[in-house]
Amino acid sequence: MAPHEDQSSAGVRGPIEALTASGLRALTGDAATLPGPGGLGVRLAARLRELIRAGGALRPGTVLPPTRAVAAEFRLSRGVVVAAYEQLAAEGFLAGRQGSGTRVADLGAGARPAPKAPPPEEAARPGVPDLGGFPRGRWLAAYRQALTAMADGDLGYGDPRGHARLRTGLAAHLRAFRGADASPDALLVVGGAADGLTLLADTLAACGRPRIAVEDPSSPRTRALLRRRGLEVTGVPVDGEGLAVDALREPGRLGAVLLTPAHQYPAGVPLSAGRRQALVRLAREHGVLLIEDDYNGAFRYDREPPGCLQGLAPDVTALLGSVSKTLAPALRLGWLLAPPAWAPRLVHDRALTHPTGHTLDHLAFAHLLHTGDYTAHLRRTRRRYQSRRLHLTTELAAAAPGFTPLGTPGGLHLPVALPPWSREAEVLAAVRAEGYDVQGLGSCALAPPPPDRPGGGLVIGFAALTPAAITHLVGVARAAGGPPPSPGAPPPPG
Ligand SMILES: Cc1ncc(COP(=O)(O)O)c(C=O)c1O
Repeated sequence: MAPHEDQSSAGVRGPIEALTASGLRALTGDAATLPGPGGLGVRLAARLRELIRAGGALRPGTVLPPTRAVAAEFRLSRGVVVAAYEQLAAEGFLAGRQGSGTRVADLGAGARPAPKAPPPEEAARPGVPDLGGFPRGRWLAAYRQALTAMADGDLGYGDPRGHARLRTGLAAHLRAFRGADASPDALLVVGGAADGLTLLADTLAACGRPRIAVEDPSSPRTRALLRRRGLEVTGVPVDGEGLAVDALREPGRLGAVLLTPAHQYPAGVPLSAGRRQALVRLAREHGVLLIEDDYNGAFRYDREPPGCLQGLAPDVTALLGSVSKTLAPALRLGWLLAPPAWAPRLVHDRALTHPTGHTLDHLAFAHLLHTGDYTAHLRRTRRRYQSRRLHLTTELAAAAPGFTPLGTPGGLHLPVALPPWSREAEVLAAVRAEGYDVQGLGSCALAPPPPDRPGGGLVIGFAALTPAAITHLVGVARAAGGPPPSPGAPPPPG
């Protein structure tokens, strides 16, 4: 490409580039290899459109080679090239001016998918596992095995609860690793915890039990989902023992309580034994369904994870889990273990919208469970996440005075209280500008505090962060959180 100085265009700034016909061919490939349906002109236009959208070599202002030169280079008739240019000009991708050739139109900054996406290891979104550690080879082998071994009948409409082989494997896994009271018959394979929760919410609403209590703080996304399905959401405070059962108002009017007993989201505390017992008594007395979101019950770093609440009270608890934290959210694979009184209704409702599951995925996951590859993967990732969490807490202690880690060592996120001389909104803005998708503790509250309130907190997903990214994140947060006040300085405002 040869740089030119643009003399006259209002829409093009600074040096502009002119593409030669051979340069264009290097980008598009030969005419005969242009992909897609349609004649040569249509395919050339489609390829140019793609390149312009991608914004790489064909960025705004780039001058395209003359049609005559392109026709010679590609060994096409000139009419074909003219038609392709005209097509893109009519769509607004190209602009032509007399004497200065055809160029890529400048549509302003908003036309580009501008800000660079953060590299995956810098995501820091709470709850995202290390996607680079996804066991691709094992999953591929499991898929191949599933496809080879599956009966023809497995390709038809199956059981709306999911394939029996997966339900059998999952029930054994949940019994062994989560202390669940699980049988294949009571399990529904769903498309992730959110999908299972949607099914429960719809069924609660259809049964005339629209009031649901959730932990305060909790996941704003989950609350939005429940409201979207027509439920009335009320908050119950969380303290060092998890959900404050005594604070549940009018339990007789409640349809359900949704909670995260293994590792409260976002506070990171487990529900204490006393609270578990009190909650089960309340649920039995008032006919309340307990919905246990076991979103990262597999990860505890100082001891074995506590067994699930469902194991204590299978008659009143629906257990939700998924592989989103253990393998990858993209699989959309989860489970719902329902109390016997609820299972038939849930299966009936499920069958209306999902007459069968994603059987191939079910069989592949069943294979991973059967071979022990899934539990081996859990062991491996647990060690990796433990060391990343340790690196984060060590860096915070060394480099960020006043930043206080909260909760127990578990899960894929670390809640961190900010010192009173900093502001959550400012620290969040700084780390997000560096590509870290850290959440604010304030946004998890049912009534979020004003943005200028001093202190607050961060919810940092550490599982996908390399040690170098963790060190950098802590440095950025520390710089934005401000230095500690010097002795004798006036107290911070607010
Ligand atoms: C509290 C909580 N529960 C459950 C999930 C998992 O949802 P799913 O299994 O639908 O991916 C998440 C995901 O981030 C979460 O934050």
